[in-house]
Amino acid sequence: MSDLNIAVLGAGVVGLTTAFQLKTEFRNANIDVISEKFNEETTSHVAAGIFRPGSGFSGPTEEITEKWINDSYHYWDDIRNNSEGGVAGITSISGYVFSSEFPNIVRNYYLEKLVPLYRQATEEELKLCSGIWKYGSFFTTLLTQCSLYLPWITVKLKAKGVRFISKRIEGFGDIQNNYDAIINCTGLGAKFLCNDKKIVPIRGQVIKVEAPWLKTFFYGNYDTYIIPGIGSVTLGGCRQYDSYDMNINKYDSLSIKERCETLLPSLKGAKVLGERVGLRPHRDIVRVEKDVQIFNDRKLKIVHNYGHGGYGVTTAPGTSIHAVKLVREIFSGNSKL
Ligand SMILES: Cc1cc2nc3c(=O)[nH]c(=O)nc-3n(C[C@H](O)[C@H](O)[C@H](O)COP(=O)(O)OP(=O)(O)OC[C@H]3O[C@@H](n4cnc5c(N)ncnc54)[C@H](O)[C@@H]3O)c2cc1C
Ligand SMILES: *[C@@H]1O[C@H](CO)[C@@H](O)[C@H](O)[C@H]1NC(C)=O
Ligand SMILES: *[C@@H]1O[C@H](CO)[C@@H](O)[C@H](O)[C@H]1NC(C)=O
Ligand SMILES: *[C@@H]1O[C@H](CO)[C@@H](O)[C@H](O)[C@H]1NC(C)=O
Repeated sequence: MSDLNIAVLGAGVVGLTTAFQLKTEFRNANIDVISEKFNEETTSHVAAGIFRPGSGFSGPTEEITEKWINDSYHYWDDIRNNSEGGVAGITSISGYVFSSEFPNIVRNYYLEKLVPLYRQATEEELKLCSGIWKYGSFFTTLLTQCSLYLPWITVKLKAKGVRFISKRIEGFGDIQNNYDAIINCTGLGAKFLCNDKKIVPIRGQVIKVEAPWLKTFFYGNYDTYIIPGIGSVTLGGCRQYDSYDMNINKYDSLSIKERCETLLPSLKGAKVLGERVGLRPHRDIVRVEKDVQIFNDRKLKIVHNYGHGGYGVTTAPGTSIHAVKLVREIFSGNSKL
């Protein structure tokens, strides 16, 4: 009996983290990562990568959602806490969320239970940024910078024998014969691949600037955020529902710059390193499911793992652990294991 052959479609944070968990669980399996785009061409690379699950993120049940978030946090924190955290792009970061409207905006019920520090901002802290801020919180969380994490995990995967194939998949007919199972981590690509109408792009645009003095993150109104990363600070942002425009929009640039500089005047004059656009692959319920499709009289076993919206860096590990559990279920009793 030969070993299992598994294809992982997609090389964003979800695909590569899934491939890594798979290889850990099925050490003898032959795993191929097949993707059209890699590294800086993925949506994952655009993300600031802060660990902050939002209310738009949902699994099939509240308990599963919370388990995904918990598992994810521990995955990132374990890498950060060993000597590889720095090279893998995972750091600890603290900062503020302010709101002039609602106290709920500054709460995060998942994070409050998980992170080492989560508290209300003091009266003095509410005056740190310009604007009239009524509510605020200060907390410590994690940040995963995909410009470092994706190359780091690629090296790990290659060392374990995982193959990388650069290819755009138009339909599953062309790859199905070679694999016992396919893991679908194509993000927004899933929409086109097989017409999943539930997946919708939420367009985002960011400016990367050089401001090494900034160590703290800030969130204000209208999707305004300032998130220091390794080597650059991400200024954002916007959330445009059902927009596919990958061009940098000058009105968004002006608005982001003005909103961030108003929040934090020290950003005036910070050198602009670049601007990026990404389409967040939003799905009402993130899809981590088993599936079987018939192709030329042959059953094709599939596990889906896509639709993480604005929270894919945060939650890739937890959903990947779940996806690998589903792969295990598919092959339970299989003699190849
Ligand atoms: C401006 C912005 C800021 C963000 N900030 C954060 C943040 O701070 N924290 C956070 O958690 N999340 C953030 N996100 C969200 C995060 O970027 C996404 O949730 C995450 O990148 C989704 O990962 P993914 O692997 O599913 O998708 P992707 O990174 O898009 O990867 C999909 C992969 O599938 C491949 N693919 C698709 N279709 C095909 C096909 N037909 N054939 C072959 N290959 C295919 C692609 O080439 C690509 O490699 C942000 C997003 C944006 C746009
Ligand atoms: C998630 O972790 C928190 C904090 O440890 C815990 O209170 C909660 O019960 C966990 N939830 C799940 C579903 O694992
Ligand atoms: C991080 O490592 C230290 C030292 O090995 C250990 O005491 C601590 O419990 C670890 N923390 C986590 C979250 O694993
Ligand atoms: C990937 O996701 C799409 C969207 O639902 C799905 O229809 C398609 O069949 C998936 N890919 C595979 C290999 O099945």
